[in-house]
Amino acid sequence: MFRRSFVVASTLAVLAGAVHAQDLDALKADTRKNALPVLPKVVAMMQETVAEKGAIEAIPVCKEKAPLLLKEQSAKTGWDMRRVSLRTRNPERGTPDVWEARQLADFNIRAANGEKIETLEAGEIVTENGKQIYRYIRAVPVGDVCLKCHGAPDKIEASLKSQLAKSYPHDTAFGYEKGQIRGGLTVKRPL
Ligand code: HEC
Repeated sequence: MFRRSFVVASTLAVLAGAVHAQDLDALKADTRKNALPVLPKVVAMMQETVAEKGAIEAIPVCKEKAPLLLKEQSAKTGWDMRRVSLRTRNPERGTPDVWEARQLADFNIRAANGEKIETLEAGEIVTENGKQIYRYIRAVPVGDVCLKCHGAPDKIEASLKSQLAKSYPHDTAFGYEKGQIRGGLTVKRPL
């Protein structure tokens, strides 16, 4: 009798595990579908604005447009979405929490081990304030256009640099190279 209930219990546990893994895959796919399209939109907007109006005029793309697009998507989905980085320009908005910092550090290790940074991501169900939520984070790569404002400080136009210095006294988001990880797009969704 004991043996039988043990077998039933462990079979159920295995089944539950299988369903769980499927749920996680579905959650990840759905999160990607709703969150990731924002990334290429911001890059395209940045490229266009820099080309047409110059880098100083493109500051609002990273400062206002990107957060706005995420806010709109948050309103549509009911999920919390933001950009974070281990080296922030705006620490008030972009400082990662412990989970995010851990994933970003792990992304750097995974990239050093040869994973493509464009597809680096992590997703996990965690308990926050007694409730289960799904957390997802995707690496944001540094492309050519990003270097105008996040590249080596000595390569950044003086007028642009002083403009940035005025708004961001604690800026550590310089010195990036193409192909590095600038930060992450992070999502928290209630379950
Ligand atoms: C024209 C200048 C400019 C360019 C070009 C630029 N950024 Fe930014 N970036 C900023 C500014 C300004 C902020 C601070 C925004 C704020 O106040 O929240 C910022 C913030 C960020 C943040 C939020 C985290 C933080 O450091 O505060 C990320 C992520 C980011 N940029 C990624 C990128 C990527 C990726 C590119 C290239 C596609 C890019 N940026 C190009 C000016 C720029």
